[in-house]
Amino acid sequence: MDENLLFKFNAIADGLAEDGIAVVDSFLNSDEVKSIGEEDEFKDGLLQFKKAGIGQAQERQINESIRGDYIQWIDPASASAPIQIYLEKLSRLRTFLNQSLFLSLKDVEVHKTIYPPQSYYKRHLDQFKKDDHRKLSVICYLNEEWKESDGGQLRVYFPDGSKDFFPIAGRLVCFRSDLLEHEVLPTERPRMSLTGWMLDR
Ligand code: OGA
Ligand code: MN
Repeated sequence: MDENLLFKFNAIADGLAEDGIAVVDSFLNSDEVKSIGEEDEFKDGLLQFKKAGIGQAQERQINESIRGDYIQWIDPASASAPIQIYLEKLSRLRTFLNQSLFLSLKDVEVHKTIYPPQSYYKRHLDQFKKDDHRKLSVICYLNEEWKESDGGQLRVYFPDGSKDFFPIAGRLVCFRSDLLEHEVLPTERPRMSLTGWMLDR
């Protein structure tokens, strides 16, 4: 395997084992981020989603007072080349984590996500039912030149306090879906990401 990628995979496994979370930068390089950001659903921000036909429509999450993001599930079979590259990396990461942490992750599901300006996602756990098959949450951000004043931090809650992470382009955040509560603080700019989960079936 590419040495650089192996280095990142190791950092992710270490972070998960020690803290239940890992944050690695440049998981996607800037060309990869650019080409994904230029896809229809992201390109003109929300406008594009609202105009989309019913079958293709981006859906706003139902309870706007809890979360204000729009999502679109990715069908791996018809995904664009840059998305396929990302999915391929996640699939290799899944195999790596199964071997290094003795997990039995079987599948990955991913959606495109946009938070329009002023939207947020209140504090929550990704795995909210006992029988939930989401084991790891995996988010890659696509926002070039993000500034602190743009807000939109991912805030993760630990027993001894919280930590904030900005949604900067190419950054991957991976954490235990059953363990870590988190929230997305209000964003001042459209905030784009690929949001996914590794499942145990
Ligand atoms: C989620 C979520 C965090 C983020 O979609 O469940 O918590 O930083 N996303 O986008
Ligand atoms: Mn979440």
